[in-house]
Amino acid sequence: MPAQTQVDQRLDEAALDGAPLVDCRDLACTFGTGEAAVVAVHGVSLQVCPGDQIGVTGPSGSGKSTLLHLLGGLRSATAGTVSWPGLGGHPLGVPGRIGFIFQGPSLVPSLDVLENVTLPLLMADADPAEASHRARAALDAVGVGTLAARVPDELSGGQAQRVAVARALVCQPRLLLADEPTGQLDHAAADVVMTSLLDARARLGAALVVSTHDPLIADRLSGRWVMRDGAVAGASSPAERVAR
Ligand SMILES: Nc1ncnc2c1ncn2[C@@H]1O[C@H](COP(=O)(O)OP(=O)(O)OP(=O)(O)O)[C@@H](O)[C@H]1O
Ligand SMILES: [Mg+2]
Repeated sequence: MPAQTQVDQRLDEAALDGAPLVDCRDLACTFGTGEAAVVAVHGVSLQVCPGDQIGVTGPSGSGKSTLLHLLGGLRSATAGTVSWPGLGGHPLGVPGRIGFIFQGPSLVPSLDVLENVTLPLLMADADPAEASHRARAALDAVGVGTLAARVPDELSGGQAQRVAVARALVCQPRLLLADEPTGQLDHAAADVVMTSLLDARARLGAALVVSTHDPLIADRLSGRWVMRDGAVAGASSPAERVAR
């Protein structure tokens, strides 16, 4: 059986079990050592389940980006554990299962827009012609299909962020992690990006975790994790927020 088919089968089995996409137990991440050590995240025990939509809020430096990187397997924990039972294992071993939108500029400057969005599909071993077709559809879905031939330097901040959203969605991920996706955008552009993310979550049946400083953005998501000094000081599920 080809490797990808085996992975798909494992994923289907996990999904049937209703397994959490991410499961954190007493998760921590410290940068540096000794007197210079910075405890960016500590004591986080939370799950992300299929269909969840969570806004992560908290002051600058409270650990939001570090936590999202840990959830996405982009950074290793220095204590505690994180596992991905509903995704079939570590995200780096099953490319395309998580779509990540980074806080800063993240498009590859030497590739045009279409190539940037095609890249994750090629990394997941998609057929190149099919990958290009799907990348065009993903760009159209967020309203930037006409920019396919431009390079990132030729885009506005809002256009670049919509391309980053298309890149995150193109593999039809089960989990979308968006780190301040609207931080550099005006209200109208922020609204377009958030609507794209929420539509994709609904269409794919994915979970969506968004870090933000903007209360209007956070209020569009039914669950909330509030971070303070590296810890999740308050977590509320959709049901609790509705009940308040
Ligand atoms: N690579 C790194 N090396 C050393 N310290 C780091 C590193 N990345 C983050 N930190 C520190 O970890 C802490 C948490 O940073 P993080 O970027 O996760 O916060 P944040 O909540 O995302 O902040 P912001 O809202 O400004 O984006 C901060 O004190 C930061 O200075
Ligand atoms: Mg951050």
